[in-house]
Amino acid sequence: MVVDGDTFRALMRQFPAGVTIVTFDDKGTLGGLAVSSFCSLSMEPPLVLVCIDREVASHDAIARAGTFGVSVCAADQWQLAQDFANPKQDKQALLEATPHSLTDGGAPLLDGCVATMACSVVAAHEAGDHTIYVGQVESGVVDESREPLAYCRSGSGSFTPA
Ligand SMILES: Cc1cc2nc3c(=O)[nH]c(=O)nc-3n(C[C@H](O)[C@H](O)[C@H](O)COP(=O)(O)O)c2cc1C
Repeated sequence: MVVDGDTFRALMRQFPAGVTIVTFDDKGTLGGLAVSSFCSLSMEPPLVLVCIDREVASHDAIARAGTFGVSVCAADQWQLAQDFANPKQDKQALLEATPHSLTDGGAPLLDGCVATMACSVVAAHEAGDHTIYVGQVESGVVDESREPLAYCRSGSGSFTPA
């Protein structure tokens, strides 16, 4: 027995999450997408995971690239996250217009985020209609002067510790 789709969506939308922009260099073409399924996975070695819909263009691109960047959005980056969540958006053009640096693997790391990290894909596990990409964190930068973006119930806000 399983819950229906509406119930599943209603359950999941109660869970507050951060928002990241996962980026990659797909054989010279830059791409990226908004991802809230980013999660810490292991301390030793330092691993993270992202769950990517097998139907989106970025899915195969991440596998081809073999590396990806994670930019953890700041509270004022909701519009940017929505642009990266738009499949009709030209991501190469969007990235060219968005200040960034590049990882050794060529993935863009966006300016103005609360944290950025460079990851190597070390495993990919199929799970339902998504793939869990496991990334080893090779390097990272933190900016605690900004508040993180929080996402819940289809809305965005900033997270401020009590
Ligand atoms: C806040 C937010 C979080 C998202 N999280 C994910 C996610 O974890 N995994 C995923 O596959 N898509 C996620 N999406 C949807 C993708 O960003 C969207 O499908 C995007 O168009 C994919 O880019 P592409 O078509 O260029 O591959 C999220 C969208 C939003 C707005």
